[in-house]
Amino acid sequence: MNIDLVNEIKSDIKVEFLTKDGLKKHNLKKRFKLAGFEASEDTLCFLHEKNILACGVEKKTDDSCRSAVTQAIKTLKSSNYNSASFSVDESNIKGVVEGIILGGYDFDEYKSKPKKTKLKNIYLICKDIKKLQKSFQNAVIVAEATCFSRDIVNTIPHELNPPSFASLAKKLAKNNSLACEILGEKELKKERMGAMLAVGRASVHDSQLIHLAYKPKNAKKVITLVGKGLTYDSGGLSLKPAASMVTMKMDKAGGCAVLGIIKAISELKLDIEVHAFVGAVENMIGGDAYKPDDVVTTRSGTTVEVRNTDAEGRLVLCDVLDYAQDKVKADYIFDFATLTGACMVALGQYTTGVMGHSSKLKHDFVMKAANDSGELLGHLPFNKHLKKLLKSEIADISNVASKPYGGAITAGMFLDNFIKEQNKEKWLHFDIAGSAYTETPWDCNVYGATGAGVRFMCSFLNSIEV
Ligand code: BES
Ligand code: ZN
Ligand code: ZN
Repeated sequence: MNIDLVNEIKSDIKVEFLTKDGLKKHNLKKRFKLAGFEASEDTLCFLHEKNILACGVEKKTDDSCRSAVTQAIKTLKSSNYNSASFSVDESNIKGVVEGIILGGYDFDEYKSKPKKTKLKNIYLICKDIKKLQKSFQNAVIVAEATCFSRDIVNTIPHELNPPSFASLAKKLAKNNSLACEILGEKELKKERMGAMLAVGRASVHDSQLIHLAYKPKNAKKVITLVGKGLTYDSGGLSLKPAASMVTMKMDKAGGCAVLGIIKAISELKLDIEVHAFVGAVENMIGGDAYKPDDVVTTRSGTTVEVRNTDAEGRLVLCDVLDYAQDKVKADYIFDFATLTGACMVALGQYTTGVMGHSSKLKHDFVMKAANDSGELLGHLPFNKHLKKLLKSEIADISNVASKPYGGAITAGMFLDNFIKEQNKEKWLHFDIAGSAYTETPWDCNVYGATGAGVRFMCSFLNSIEV
């Protein structure tokens, strides 16, 4: 599908956004009435003989248009039209592009007969191409990076394992001229990453630490991104119930998000140095598996009592966070992880949980920038009482809290033990357990991976560049 920004063009069908007020004034309002169309949000009405597809929207904003275009594009892709056009201006161009690319996303890698669409050309019609060109290009870059991230998450765990994840990262580094360093198990042992290595021990695949870097000449800021890259989470010996194991290929979504973000930033050519670290590990069972009752020594020297092998993400992240802080002196450190089911219980499936010490960074910067990105963020506050629940009788801390309530926060507070004093105010943790994957479509998210994290982080990085 090609998308072009144009002044005027004839297409097979023209998509019109209609508010309830707009419908009242429309010259075809009688026909719409006959069709029962009331311009309610997310409803569509075809007037084939007029070459019009009307989409109901509350307002002509990015937010309304993103979900309206998602509905429209799905319908158009299964029609026999070859081309379609949408009118855009400054208030909706981003939403329209996201609706087309993200809402029109299909992952048919494993279908023997993928559905074909006749829809080849999409035209975005505007008055002033020059004025909108940059917003158009930026929206395309970010949406495509989101799809890149979705593709990796959606790839089955038999194909996407820690070494193939590392190869894919190498390929991205080559294509986008990024620096790339991969640490295999030999190097991880040298780094004394006892927690990360323990999680991957029962896997037939070697664990990998991926480090990509985008270093523009005039960088004004340095950002470290860390992603949980569990290519499969069976739960380990604390095995997940059968039904909960399905979808656990998504446990690499944090790692995929940070690759998507560095891809986008390097294509947007922002003057920000970005480092992406991924802990790529598979959590399996076997004679060699790490066990509940084990004590692991992390890279930082802190010892951790393993009471549940399914709380493996924090064991991988604590070592990668420690390594990343030693490697790069960053202005901000952000980690992305499908860390806890509890985050979904707290905030719902659609919202990413944000945790950290700096309310300024959380609220004034990140959540503000995220506001217009189309992603939902909700904050979960740390407190000293929950912190105490991570106490261990035999090691420095336990990998699970002694009470289940506030599970997303206690997981975040576990990670906090590995954030160095000088970095406390620079760090935020994003729990994307709910937002990274969906089995029911919502907004511009179709079945499967959503690419959570990519859009809001790009929005934030864009906002601090100037
Ligand atoms: N990968 C899971 C978290 C998860 C659950 C992500 C559902 C997406 C959907 C994580 O490794 C995990 O299993 N966490 C446990 C922690 C518990 C043992 C303290 C959980 O949430 O149950
Ligand atoms: Zn787990
Ligand atoms: Zn996990």
